[in-house]
Amino acid sequence: MIRLQGALPERYTDASPDELSSWIGAAKATLGDRLFILGHHYQRDEVMAWADARGDSFGLSKMAAERTDAEFIVFCGVHFMAESADVLTADHQQVLLPDLNAGCSMADMADIDAVEEAWDALAKVTDVERIVPITYMNSSAALKAFVGAHGGAVCTSSNARAVLTWALDPDRTGQAMGDKVLFFPDQHLGRNTGFQLGYGAGDMALWNPRFALGGLDDAEVKAATLLLWKGHCSVHQRFRPEHVAAFRTEHPGGIVLIHPECAHDVVELADEVGSTDAIIRAVEAAPAGSAIGIATEIHLVKRLADTHPDKQISCLDPLVCPCSTMFRIDAPHLAWILEGLVGGEVRNRITVEKDTARWARVALERMLAIT
Ligand code: 13P
Ligand code: SF4
Repeated sequence: MIRLQGALPERYTDASPDELSSWIGAAKATLGDRLFILGHHYQRDEVMAWADARGDSFGLSKMAAERTDAEFIVFCGVHFMAESADVLTADHQQVLLPDLNAGCSMADMADIDAVEEAWDALAKVTDVERIVPITYMNSSAALKAFVGAHGGAVCTSSNARAVLTWALDPDRTGQAMGDKVLFFPDQHLGRNTGFQLGYGAGDMALWNPRFALGGLDDAEVKAATLLLWKGHCSVHQRFRPEHVAAFRTEHPGGIVLIHPECAHDVVELADEVGSTDAIIRAVEAAPAGSAIGIATEIHLVKRLADTHPDKQISCLDPLVCPCSTMFRIDAPHLAWILEGLVGGEVRNRITVEKDTARWARVALERMLAIT
């Protein structure tokens, strides 16, 4: 997806870290309660230092919805998160993304045209009224709206299990919303959650949007309970079982924490699998002296290592791959956005078109009600 972020003025690109800090601090002080800065856990330290609240994508979306008094929400994260904040906030609130090119490659792997095509193809083979579409938070507002309009919900890495349970009722304790789920865009979160709920590999089929009927035949579509869109996160897909094996050899008795966007062969070797918030909680709960190997984005791992010097914390992938789009948000962009607000100019506002926002809100509110 092309989003155009122009070059910043030299005032910002040539500024020293101290100058940027003093400008950001001054702008924050001037804007006071009119401003609320949200920081996702994968952001750089120079940005997180200014966040009024930090969290995972689920926590941040809730906080954005709750802070009804803030006029400006500056979202230090990626595009889909800012869109969700715009959908959930009131009309008098404006959401700003410091760099418009901070997207998410995984979110871009499922676009609305491809999903609508998939839906039409499925309708020729099976009863789509019984398919519940579930989109991961890492998706455009258009996909969230599609899901909202078709009886489905959004999920995040911290509530995917609850949302899939709601859709399929695997414990048979209530009224299932459907017989099948079309889950996009992250195949790994879908598969890992499916296994957690007791489904087997035979209950899941990979939907490859490049092929007619997702590369499946009619019987495979009919047999599958979970149709998993062929998307992935290039940061989390780097982690391999060999990384876990190497850590365990070096640290017998060590703790392995893995984000559910990693492939299942890695996830099944974990001591704990969870969202960024769950990983943070697990680190906090580990006894002093623990060796902890983590499979998630490097800025969070480094911050955890810095804040827990009594624990030996390392990234499971020695080549430590940062999320290049999260990394786009830096102090110069934050200063540029905030000084714009002080001067009365709203830069990089993220707005979701009204009808799309209405249905995306339905899907997000279903998620909030389920969890
Ligand atoms: P969380 O839901 O854990 O914040 O993850 C979001 C994300 O983009 C991870 O890659
Ligand atoms: Fe997207 Fe992966 Fe970056 Fe998360 S880490 S924002 S899923 S590219």
